[in-house]
Amino acid sequence: MSTGPGLGWPDRADEPPEDQPSGPGRPGGEGVAGEAGPGNAPGEPAPEAGGPPSGHAMWGNTTSGTADNVGYVPTNGGAQQPPPGPRKGPSQGESELVREALKDAKVSRETAVTSMKVMSGRREKEWPRPKHCRIVTIANQKGGVGKTTSSVNLAASLAMHGAQVLVVDLDPQGNASTALGVEHHAEIPSIYDVLIEDMPLSDIVVPATDIPNLFCAPATLNLAGAEIELVSKVARESRLRRALESYDTEAFDYVLIDCPPSLGLLTVNALVGGDELLIPIQCEYYALEGLGQLVRTVDLVKAHLNPKLAVTTILLTMYDARTRLAAQVAEDVRNHFGDVVLNTVIPRSVRVSEAPSYGQSVMTYDPGSSGALAYSEAASEVAHRGAGAAQ
Ligand SMILES: Nc1ncnc2c1ncn2[C@@H]1O[C@H](COP(=O)(O)OP(=O)(O)OP(=O)(O)O)[C@@H](O)[C@H]1O
Ligand SMILES: [Mg+2]
Repeated sequence: MSTGPGLGWPDRADEPPEDQPSGPGRPGGEGVAGEAGPGNAPGEPAPEAGGPPSGHAMWGNTTSGTADNVGYVPTNGGAQQPPPGPRKGPSQGESELVREALKDAKVSRETAVTSMKVMSGRREKEWPRPKHCRIVTIANQKGGVGKTTSSVNLAASLAMHGAQVLVVDLDPQGNASTALGVEHHAEIPSIYDVLIEDMPLSDIVVPATDIPNLFCAPATLNLAGAEIELVSKVARESRLRRALESYDTEAFDYVLIDCPPSLGLLTVNALVGGDELLIPIQCEYYALEGLGQLVRTVDLVKAHLNPKLAVTTILLTMYDARTRLAAQVAEDVRNHFGDVVLNTVIPRSVRVSEAPSYGQSVMTYDPGSSGALAYSEAASEVAHRGAGAAQ
């Protein structure tokens, strides 16, 4: 499949380097690309989302994921929650103030948590919590597009605003477990035991370090064998769903499932187990390749295994405001998918990529960084959009 039909992709030779190393003199140390600029400021109004062009070669002819037929699907069978009221995002001035106030701060965990609460107070009194648990699968078979980073940081953000959140790490790499500071060596009871050995989820769920209300079902390398071992299991596509159904998910507001970079049985389990699909799309050249295949897989799962599944959210990640390419990818995605694309884009930010090596989300590692602010904005959108659509 070709990428970007008719887009007139710019010549990469004229682009600046991708990312900047952390500079020693810059507390917060982000490269230029990580700073919220005119093209990527969190909370920036979205470009007008046009309707999806019909028969767009890139996407195939499925209609899944378009603004018309993809909406928030409440997991509560239609039960309603009081309207959260119109969303009043921070003005650009407020974001600037927060960024300015925090940029030179060496923040402790406590300060970080408090600062995010203060920031949330500036934006919204409180983020709405869903009446029933929202199970959100975060998938894209393309590798390295920000699935794990988005799972972890959205989860952290939601938890910091009072929600009870569980991250299910469904990737043998165990990156989400690492980023949440959760042990995941071979002896740890993990999601492998749940899927293959019928262990209850309650036996493996552990609290994440640093953030109250945030929990993790860790993945170990054992999970790499699960793709094969699942093949001979009864109800091999529904094993995660069954585990979630037997677990008290109502104790949580959100369950976020971080998928591996494939469309194998693990991802299918996540699609069957979730009610909503969040697709992170990297604002890069090859980002759109394979999306048609993902959408077709979603259609198949919907038709045969999980009619409730809907593509509710698309998140543009690693946006580099210095490149025309990033803007072009973002525009194309918005044109095709319409309203399900979050207004907030996640900028490329060195602090975001550094955080996991400290076993942290960027929300605690550097809450004033552009990446943390953007993930907070994106999480706020997720919380408000879900609640709004449930009216
Ligand atoms: N906004 C960002 N700015 C800079 N680096 C980022 C950003 N988001 C993610 N990264 C980095 O890009 C790499 C890939 O991100 P991530 O692991 O989240 O992708 P993934 O889709 O989960 O990958 P995989 O398919 O291997 O599971 C990681 O090194 C991560 O730290
Ligand atoms: Mg990952």
